[in-house]
Amino acid sequence: MAKAMNFGVVGLGMGGHHCRSIVSAKGAHLAAVCDIDEERLARHVKDFGCKGYKRYSDMLKDPEIEAVCIVTESGKHAQMGAQAAEAGKHLIVEKPIDITPPRITKLQAAVKKAGVKCGCIFQSRMDNCNILLKRSIEKGHLGRLIGAHASLPWFRADSYFEGPHGSWKGTWKLDGGGSLMNQGIHTVDLVIFLAGAVKSVCGFYAVHNHKIEAEDQAVAILRFENGALGTLYTTTCCIPDGPQRLHFFGTKGSFIRQGGTLEVCEMGPPKVRERLLNLFGGKRKKQAVGSDPMAVSTDGHTLIIEDLVKAVRGNREPVIPLESARHAVDVACSIIKSARTGKEVQISSMRK
Ligand SMILES: NC(=O)c1ccc[n+]([C@@H]2O[C@H](COP(=O)([O-])OP(=O)(O)OC[C@H]3O[C@@H](n4cnc5c(N)ncnc54)[C@H](O)[C@@H]3O)[C@@H](O)[C@H]2O)c1
Repeated sequence: MAKAMNFGVVGLGMGGHHCRSIVSAKGAHLAAVCDIDEERLARHVKDFGCKGYKRYSDMLKDPEIEAVCIVTESGKHAQMGAQAAEAGKHLIVEKPIDITPPRITKLQAAVKKAGVKCGCIFQSRMDNCNILLKRSIEKGHLGRLIGAHASLPWFRADSYFEGPHGSWKGTWKLDGGGSLMNQGIHTVDLVIFLAGAVKSVCGFYAVHNHKIEAEDQAVAILRFENGALGTLYTTTCCIPDGPQRLHFFGTKGSFIRQGGTLEVCEMGPPKVRERLLNLFGGKRKKQAVGSDPMAVSTDGHTLIIEDLVKAVRGNREPVIPLESARHAVDVACSIIKSARTGKEVQISSMRK
């Protein structure tokens, strides 16, 4: 049996989830954690019985570490990821990859030059219902896709944006925005995963009910490469908060997925609909992430970590490579640019 791959985790807020996921992932071993926050560092070293580093550069010098999970503030991901790649470490990068397209391009170049593997965290892509819906759309069970509409009516209390680990949230510099780039980026990526690439967007945003710099509500119209149109709204202002909702329809059918449950599924042959509804419809337990940022299952993270190990061993691309994970950031940044300029923005313009 191959030796377990040694992981280091930097950033011990959400990074705690990464630690638990590494511990439960097959073929992975948590060798070290790193944080400049001494209390967080000491707690994780004690809880996981691993090495602890206060300085990131010291963890990167540790020859035992083969892969690093980057779980720091979003606006630090690309630079810290590139540092790890240059040190010859494989990577897992939390969502969003970073907050600007040019920085992600630099990370891609660093990963390519170093010849390491980089997997990205968008755990919704590992969800079985989403995978089966994607396959069904690709098989033409909706007919020609016409509409792809998504909403995320979430709530965040003021306290979420306060304190040493809250005040970067809702800033342009480190969060790249608010409800769209932070909470909403999973929904942007999921819409792309299911509907395909976005060609252009028109967007609007505002700060309505928080003392933050960026935005707590964003609204956009999406034009997809395949001709479908869509809408997207994300907010952290909704009281009470509601679940993520997707409403997709094509020339032959539609589905509505809300809070992890398939509410409507009128697509494909009866056997396909029945299977999807039996597996994911009706009375299943609803997801509860709307107002609690830490209510995230570690399952998706575990699968992505196991996949990185397999990608390294088998010398193949990880299941969520940089190239596909960056599109959500290209789209989010285009929505912000459109809101600022009052013009439709072509996504390809973000790659130049
Ligand atoms: N996949 C998900 O569902 C999910 C959920 C929550 C957060 N996230 C992402 O995780 C990332 C972190 O979010 P968070 O809520 O944990 O933030 P946080 O502020 O709680 O944690 C970030 C940590 O990074 C540490 N840090 C910053 N710079 C460092 C450096 N140079 N060296 C060592 N440590 C450093 C900070 O001290 C802090 O402890 C964000 O990008 C966020 O978008 C993802």
